Amino acid sequence: MTASLPVQLDAARITTPSPITLAAQTRPDFPLLAQQACLGQPLIYLDHAATSQKPRQVLEALHTYYSRDNANVHRGAHQLSARATDAFEGARAKVAGFIGAATPREIVFTRNASEAINLVARSWGDTTIGPGDEILLSVMEHHSNLVPWQLLAARTGAVLRHVGLTESGELDLVDLKAKLTPRTRLVSLVQISNTLGCLNPIAAVAKLAHGAGALVLVDACQSLAHLPVNVAELGADFLVGSSHKLCGPTGMGFLWAREALLEAMPPFLGGGEMIQDVYLDHSSWAELPHKFEAGTPAIGEAVGMGAALDYLSAIGLERIHSWEQQLTARLFERLRVMEGLRLLGPSPEQQPDRGALAAFTVDGLHANDLAALLDAGGICIRSGHHCTQPLHRHYGLAASARASLSFTTTFEEIDRFAEELQSSVAFLREHG
Ligand code: ALA
Repeated sequence: MTASLPVQLDAARITTPSPITLAAQTRPDFPLLAQQACLGQPLIYLDHAATSQKPRQVLEALHTYYSRDNANVHRGAHQLSARATDAFEGARAKVAGFIGAATPREIVFTRNASEAINLVARSWGDTTIGPGDEILLSVMEHHSNLVPWQLLAARTGAVLRHVGLTESGELDLVDLKAKLTPRTRLVSLVQISNTLGCLNPIAAVAKLAHGAGALVLVDACQSLAHLPVNVAELGADFLVGSSHKLCGPTGMGFLWAREALLEAMPPFLGGGEMIQDVYLDHSSWAELPHKFEAGTPAIGEAVGMGAALDYLSAIGLERIHSWEQQLTARLFERLRVMEGLRLLGPSPEQQPDRGALAAFTVDGLHANDLAALLDAGGICIRSGHHCTQPLHRHYGLAASARASLSFTTTFEEIDRFAEELQSSVAFLREHG
């Protein structure tokens, strides 16, 4: 099925080879980034890992959907419902194409990636996992890839094990091999850590896990907008993503799983939309993927996510990754020379394909104070535990500061951030 919403992509402008940087080419699409900060300086947004900004193509897709096609999906015989259904199912097909899924039936829309992981833990986990079965995670996981498994372990008696890190802050494959046992049922890992920035070798992990009879779940929230992700190449069994991290709206995420797995899994939530027939005492379920989508879905958000995927695809994920690698190298170059600043995760030299972010601490200073001073200068970074408390604890930290980039980021912004950070550190050292 094709989407009825034409997304007005200026693909020619974006894809034409040009000496102009990718940031210069794409910035006009992001109205939010053109504003001034509250004291009149240019706004510098370096918190893309927390949420991405939205190009006008996504804003226009939302506007067009609500001003032209809005209706409930899969229900009405009328023309608006047919158009809304086409747009909604068209977005599902776009997600499938974006990650190389075999069919859109393998894409389940959820509210966010956390809900997608909870779906797997509840539906697959509750019916597959028993006492003593092992779920293998890592110490770098986001809370959303820890807590659902803790809840599953409490319900079933499963055992949680956690892969450690190498000296450079990468996934320790030696430790992973040692912790993979005949009892391991699932290996669930982030592809790019939102704190360390490391890119985990999912394809290699999947081979090891499958060899041990375990399935593999990939949290791709920090990778999907930054480099090509293909589920067949990864060899994964489940993959979760989040719309708002890839230039789409909030309130929308997805689960991809191999069709045979989804067929065997029972529904997660019950209600309208997910049923075939309902009687007073029992019901039967709709076909995939609808059996996992109870209630009226987030239709406009799905359409917006589809437009965001079109936008990223028109630029090209290889091109995005290549530009962000240059930006990341500059970020590390500027930060690593600062006295007392410690970077978390592998350097670009240690891992050239690492994520476009840098989390760091500065001796004797609190990350929140640094973030507040930078904000006064118009620079938005994140401070705190970034939803990775166990990872911070592993390093003996309560918090860190994090600058995270996107293809819209410029070298000038990174330089200005580094200068302002240096001044903030000096100010806090003098007055703190
Ligand atoms: N997980 C998001 C982050 O890394 C919120 O900031």
